Amino acid sequence: MAEFDLVVRGGTVGTAYDLFEADIGIVDGKIDAIGRNLARGKEEVDAKGKLVLPGGIDSHCHIEEMSPGGGVQEESFASGSAAALAGGTTSFICFLQQWKGHTLTESAPGYAERARQSRADYSFHQIITDPMPEVLEKEVPALIAKGVRSLKVFLTYDPLQLTDAQYLEVLATARRHGAMVTVHCENFDAISWRIEKLLAAGLTDPLQHAWARPPLVEREATHRAIALAELVDQPIQVFHVSCEEAAGEVARAKARGLKVWGETCPQYLTLSHEDLDQPDFGGAKAVCSPALREKGESERVWARIKDGTLDIVTSDHCGFSFATAKRNPGSSGYGQGGAVQRADGMPAFNAIPNGMPGIETRLPVLFSEGVSKGRISINAFVRITSANAARLFGLQGRKGTIAPGADADLVVWDPQMERKVEVARMHQAIDYTPWEGLDVKGWPVVTIRRGEIAVRDNEVIAAPGSGSFLPRGPYDVIKPTGTVPDGFDAASVT
Ligand code: URP
Ligand code: ZN
Ligand code: ZN
Repeated sequence: MAEFDLVVRGGTVGTAYDLFEADIGIVDGKIDAIGRNLARGKEEVDAKGKLVLPGGIDSHCHIEEMSPGGGVQEESFASGSAAALAGGTTSFICFLQQWKGHTLTESAPGYAERARQSRADYSFHQIITDPMPEVLEKEVPALIAKGVRSLKVFLTYDPLQLTDAQYLEVLATARRHGAMVTVHCENFDAISWRIEKLLAAGLTDPLQHAWARPPLVEREATHRAIALAELVDQPIQVFHVSCEEAAGEVARAKARGLKVWGETCPQYLTLSHEDLDQPDFGGAKAVCSPALREKGESERVWARIKDGTLDIVTSDHCGFSFATAKRNPGSSGYGQGGAVQRADGMPAFNAIPNGMPGIETRLPVLFSEGVSKGRISINAFVRITSANAARLFGLQGRKGTIAPGADADLVVWDPQMERKVEVARMHQAIDYTPWEGLDVKGWPVVTIRRGEIAVRDNEVIAAPGSGSFLPRGPYDVIKPTGTVPDGFDAASVT
């Protein structure tokens, strides 16, 4: 009788810190043995000449979100998870919504049931837009107890933005119950003021989305988010850092020993204002927040990956098709300021829904631009795409590594494969990719999720519903440092 259900044979295995040749034996969805000349499995994957890396964890993506008006994002759990797996991501963390004026229970009814259609493993961050007592005192603690151990807050966007006072209350709640807080850092009032002036000056193109929110509005909010987290002694992760000005704030916080981590996304490493300044309203495809920066800024963001300031690269997948939602916005929630129609019938920049698709391209684009072009090592690639997300979000030991006992989430990469990014060959529901036509070197050829072959040669085999919810228990990273101003721990007073 075969000893293993599946053996991945003869590959070069890469983890956060090691690179070695080995076979990997899998039993019941878990890694059972790593060694040379393992016994035959019931099934075998030949990985000779290939890399075998941990399945990617995309700890920031928006899937099938529901708006209070009844709209649902086009990217469903079935399509988004197919896209994730095809791109080498075996687990993701998306968002439970809260609609302002509603409790968590009332918001986006049935969302967790929709998520059961996922083909990849998944967890949630809970968005807090309205921190009323019922939410902070009852619902959040109950949710954390069920394993949703991270909250997301926005310091901008009309229907989502929190005041500083509300942000402090969310931080204090997370401190008391043991959860990570993730923060979208941009200054709401500064952006609203600039939007108003740009529209009054008749400047309405997609490029002006970036003019409305220059790096300093991100830098200011990043500084404030960190300072207020320090006041409460609550660990935070700064989401989607787009520029050196904001990354510098994260670096200074780390140097001072604060529990602050930074995330960026492939768009900030590869795209620029040029992508916003395209004919035929094409710049709308590149409207996301924080906005894309001027050419050259990406290299400064790469430098902050290399020096360890930025810990994780996620997709921030938030898809709106170009043929529909990008040109005919409904109420996506991800926008700011009143709607203005232009003479050509297109929406002014501020009404274009913010976000771009990326869950399928995150890893190939990053591998090619990072590893193949020599900017980062294979180990650094594993850290920023998988291992660090597991560590920061309470999945360590189970995900993000290749070790006995861990879930057998493995991706076989052909590091020499050259391919063009083409939406026609992709699995996402969104009708475009911002990386259309990009030549990449290095592609995931087999994706294994908990011991099952989920994708082979771009064909998705995993069925909808085969993914599992990942509850997350208490873990060290979210413990406070124990240092508060004047020794007075305000968060402990209720
Ligand atoms: O433009 C973006 N990033 N859209 C997604 C929502 C968010 O801000 O994370
Ligand atoms: Zn955001
Ligand atoms: Zn996001």
